[in-house]
Amino acid sequence: MKKIVCLPGDGIGQEIMNSALQVMTVIADKYQLDLVTEEHDFGGAAIDNHGHPLPEATLAACQAADGILLGAIGGPQWEEAEVRPEQGLLALRKALNLYANIRPVTVPTATAHLSPLKPEIVTGADFVVVRELTGGIYFGEPRELNQEDALDTCTYTAAEIRRILRKGFEIAQGRRKLVTSVDKANVLATSKLWRKIAEEVASEFPDVTLEHHLVDSVAMKLIQEPTHFDVIITENLFGDILSDEASVIPGTLGILPSASHGVGGLSLYEPIHGSAPDIAGQNIANPVSMILSMAMMLRESFGWEAPASEVEETCYAVMAEGVLTGDLGGTTSTSEFVEAVIKKIQAA
Ligand code: NAD
Ligand code: IPM
Ligand code: MN
Repeated sequence: MKKIVCLPGDGIGQEIMNSALQVMTVIADKYQLDLVTEEHDFGGAAIDNHGHPLPEATLAACQAADGILLGAIGGPQWEEAEVRPEQGLLALRKALNLYANIRPVTVPTATAHLSPLKPEIVTGADFVVVRELTGGIYFGEPRELNQEDALDTCTYTAAEIRRILRKGFEIAQGRRKLVTSVDKANVLATSKLWRKIAEEVASEFPDVTLEHHLVDSVAMKLIQEPTHFDVIITENLFGDILSDEASVIPGTLGILPSASHGVGGLSLYEPIHGSAPDIAGQNIANPVSMILSMAMMLRESFGWEAPASEVEETCYAVMAEGVLTGDLGGTTSTSEFVEAVIKKIQAA
């Protein structure tokens, strides 16, 4: 029996979590998967109910889980909160030591037309952004906000850099064996260290090719020639920005999932996007990002390859048929999309 802790969070979080859990119930039934779910307050919802975005009970439940699903957190109503929802998310990632955030991007031929970029540019794009998630400027001290000045600190230890690079190289070994290490080594000290360690780690993986790119020019090349990339490994802030940019390649932020892995075997799965307050509560959000995050959990935490693939292929097949939510130019509601996915799984 696998225990899954679900943290719906805020905004569209609850809607897309419900969607993913409905699909999970159907796929679990079909493949006789033994799963149990448990829901906990997190983010703004937890501020409202408990006065803190990461209540102790939520953290304890996560630590005792076999896998964690997170919707999204944040929203304008908590912008002035003493501890914001976003700080709860950072605290959770840190507490669980989830240092490796894997953000896959693929463009199957059948859905290439959904991209605002030309089909000949995006067709066949298939890469992962491996984002360092527990270091860099997100966590560096000191941090100060004053009336007339402010300060953030970007720090990385060699050990932090080495473990994320190793993780990315291992992923590349199971793929096309090309690592693009992204930094700003022409300016930043942390990036100079990053580049040196990337070279050292590359020597441990002689079958993998390493190339270095500066973050500004790679932001351009990612859109110009997305099929070039296989595994992009980068620091926390660059990975955050590049992965949202990368969502334009398949056509929407609303379909990109992620996995965050730590050291003890416990992982968290969440869409790369936020709580989308502008469309929350209207049953129009694209649930694919959350459904695919759930599929990543089935594969990467539980080793259930066949059900994971069936969920992923069904989502893309439904989109290829023109069943599309508003972010992809369609008029299908969240619940109608989920119904179409479930019908297809049950019919197959
Ligand atoms: P966002 O990612 O929430 O939304 C950006 C745009 O993408 C919006 O127009 C939104 O409607 C659209 N969008 C996002 N997901 C979608 C989906 N599934 N279907 C259809 N459209 C979708 O970014 P934002 O508006 O800058 O941030 C809103 C809040 O979310 C902020 O409080 C931010 O801090 C938070 N946030 C949380 C996470 C997280 O929980 N992991 C990630 C990013 C942002
Ligand atoms: C993400 C989000 C978070 C981040 C915010 C909400 C703290 O943008 O998961 O990509 O910057 O990591
Ligand atoms: Mn982000």
